[in-house]
Amino acid sequence: MNDRPPAAHKDLAGRTLLVGVCGGIAAYKCAEVVSTMRQAGADVHVIMTEAAQRFVTPLTFQALSNNDVHTDMFGTGTAWEIAHIGLVRKTDAFLVLNATANTLAKLAHGIADNLLTTCVLATRKPVLIAPAMNTQMLEAAATQENIRTLHERGMFFIEPGAGFLACGEVGQGRLADPDTIVSAVEQVVRRAHELDGLRVMITAGPTREFLDPSRFLSNPSTGRMGFAMAAEAHARGAEVTVICGPTELRPPASVHVVRVTTAREMQAAVMEHLPGTAIFVGAAAVADFRPAQFAPSKVRKADAASTLVLERNPDVIAQVAERKPPGCFIVGFAAETDDAEQHAREKLLAKKLDCIVTNRIAIGGGAFGASDNEVVVLWGTDGREALPRASKPAVAAAIWDRIMALRPSRGRPVTT
Ligand code: C5P
Repeated sequence: MNDRPPAAHKDLAGRTLLVGVCGGIAAYKCAEVVSTMRQAGADVHVIMTEAAQRFVTPLTFQALSNNDVHTDMFGTGTAWEIAHIGLVRKTDAFLVLNATANTLAKLAHGIADNLLTTCVLATRKPVLIAPAMNTQMLEAAATQENIRTLHERGMFFIEPGAGFLACGEVGQGRLADPDTIVSAVEQVVRRAHELDGLRVMITAGPTREFLDPSRFLSNPSTGRMGFAMAAEAHARGAEVTVICGPTELRPPASVHVVRVTTAREMQAAVMEHLPGTAIFVGAAAVADFRPAQFAPSKVRKADAASTLVLERNPDVIAQVAERKPPGCFIVGFAAETDDAEQHAREKLLAKKLDCIVTNRIAIGGGAFGASDNEVVVLWGTDGREALPRASKPAVAAAIWDRIMALRPSRGRPVTT
């Protein structure tokens, strides 16, 4: 019979999932999450913090997962350690449920003082975090900063919902619905291998064009959007190289970073790494011009000309489009102040890109450096998708979804 409804969360079948449960009143709700994932066919292994065991017994999770529950860093024998490291290695995703302010703080600072935080620190697999706590604790500057840090490092957050809290207050902080949590895990697991075996190159950040050793022309780009694109590509299985201009931000772990300063250095690095690239993303704000002359000694005020003579920099992405490896998919970015979509569409066609991501910049920087972004993706002569305002990692995920939909699959002939 093939008229049966499709199995719920079918992409979880056959997956190995590690679930960390923290101590909080919502620990009992985690039981339903574990049960749903097991029913979907996943092999679920649970780690509980000591506080979590005050709310629910390990036996509950053992029965629901049909696997031993791990609670102790210092179990007897030596096999425990190897078993846990083995678990971390073979898991497809790591879900931290009922994440408390305490555990978020530990994760943000790399504190590994229990089995859960140790395993999160030891994993390179996608980590999803579903926080649950009192509204004030959630809104506290320290918690928000920790969430931002973890988010920027590429961890996925499942937003807590609003409602009645155990403390008697009404507000944000309830653990998300079990179905929302399981769907989020399924989505991450499904995406995790989309870019397996593919090389992705991303330019990020600004470039600097020096007049003399103490002065340069540049722009407010921080590389945040390019880094979010890199983290997401890595989470989907790609081998990622980021060619990055000067920035204070830390690039995501597990990507190959090449640091450059000027547009010409960026061009050289991009061309060097281009062979074998399957997808190129030009998220850098490359300076279009550089001073025609570079003075090796600092120019004295009295000697400075009042007019600066400039010359054009190479257009890195346009050159990539001209010399791209067969089948390479090219994604541009365009930050615009006026008629954003019209200008971006012109660039898309003039530079022969496969798609372009356009965002509006306002006086004072707009999207530059901000943690949120609102973009429109354009392709072809009339393809268009407006993405809702969201955090840059969430926007990056949506852009990659669009890239995956537009990019001809491997093995099929590529039309340019
Ligand atoms: O022409 P415009 O600079 O607005 O185009 C933006 C797109 O082109 C971005 O993807 C940017 O990374 C890329 N670009 C480039 N080299 C330049 C200028 C822009 O790769 N010199």
